[in-house]
Amino acid sequence: MILLSRRTLVGAGLVAAGAGAVGYAAWPRMDGYLEAVERQRRALAADPELAEFVRMATLAANGHNTQPWTFRLDGSGLAILPDTARRTPVADPDDHHLFVSLGCAAENLVIAAAAHGRAAEVAIGDGAAPGIDIALRQAAPAPGALHDAIPLRQSTRSVYDGAPVSASELALLTEAAREAGVSVQVFTESADRDAILDLVIAGNEAQMDDPDWVQELLDWLRFSPARALATGDGLFSACSGNPVLPEWLGPRLFKAVFSKASETDKYRDHVRSSAGIAVFVADRPDPAHWIAVGRSFERFALQATALGIRTAHLNQPVEVPPIREEFARWLGIPGARPDLVIRFGRAPALPMSARRPVAAVLA
Ligand SMILES: Cc1cc2nc3c(=O)[nH]c(=O)nc-3n(C[C@H](O)[C@H](O)[C@H](O)COP(=O)(O)O)c2cc1C
Repeated sequence: MILLSRRTLVGAGLVAAGAGAVGYAAWPRMDGYLEAVERQRRALAADPELAEFVRMATLAANGHNTQPWTFRLDGSGLAILPDTARRTPVADPDDHHLFVSLGCAAENLVIAAAAHGRAAEVAIGDGAAPGIDIALRQAAPAPGALHDAIPLRQSTRSVYDGAPVSASELALLTEAAREAGVSVQVFTESADRDAILDLVIAGNEAQMDDPDWVQELLDWLRFSPARALATGDGLFSACSGNPVLPEWLGPRLFKAVFSKASETDKYRDHVRSSAGIAVFVADRPDPAHWIAVGRSFERFALQATALGIRTAHLNQPVEVPPIREEFARWLGIPGARPDLVIRFGRAPALPMSARRPVAAVLA
């Protein structure tokens, strides 16, 4: 996935500044947006309803912020089901990211429930499009740093501060990500990070050469806070550190400034300013294992958040099949399917992304 960089949108920033200077009242403002996303992330009450655990689940990372899930409440437990109307068939033709996203949501739910005295038992259904059944039973509350991090976690697509992460922090991150059937390799040496950067750039260029891929991305981009809140989904420019724009202007400007050269510069800055890159690989390429990758990654991201460390995806090397094969060879696992590429490091927060209301995701 590629997003507009600050560099490429500097022109848009000037447009925005100019509009402000002449008092153009219709220029989008962020005030209402920030309050709304903060409400979506409010802490749970002492004895939450099941639907409140669903709200915590929806705050999970998910591909293109499509939120490809439906929740079915079922007495004392619930099921998370794929919402196939929210697939991204070009970027994710075999629903890999969709199932990883369901795993992320399941993990948030399990952690939130545990913090509030409900131990979860998770079972993955059968078949090509399995759901996730979560049975809950009363237990001693198990609060913790990962739970507190749920409303604070975000994908931070900005330049990081370039500082390393300590060995003890790295150990906490890999420990948090421990999950049966999933392994995590962490690269902190600059030569390794540059080798991965080359594959990010190659994947990015292949994606940008595909007009269907660009159109699918555009369909999920949100340029104004009003539209981001109205849909409650998608990739809002402010969440990538880009200027907000009126919806009539955003797509036109996107098409005008979106270039391989500027995207390459952006990814080089992103990778070189990061402390490291974590690569998640499941033992097998099937939906149950992709869900496990999502659970593992979500805990990694929550632990990072708890330590004040940011994360962001650089998934191009796993999204373009020939580059994925090359990446697997570089990782020393030829024939395997690497699942996620995540950079991490420290940086200020960006605005939080929006979510659809719980009522919209209940079956
Ligand atoms: C399976 C998966 C794939 C993703 N791929 C990318 C990606 O390629 N590029 C990117 O910038 N973000 C990627 N993301 C991050 C999502 O865009 C992000 O989670 C979503 O927009 C919600 O924002 P949040 O993480 O800040 O809550 C991915 C997330 C998941 C779970």
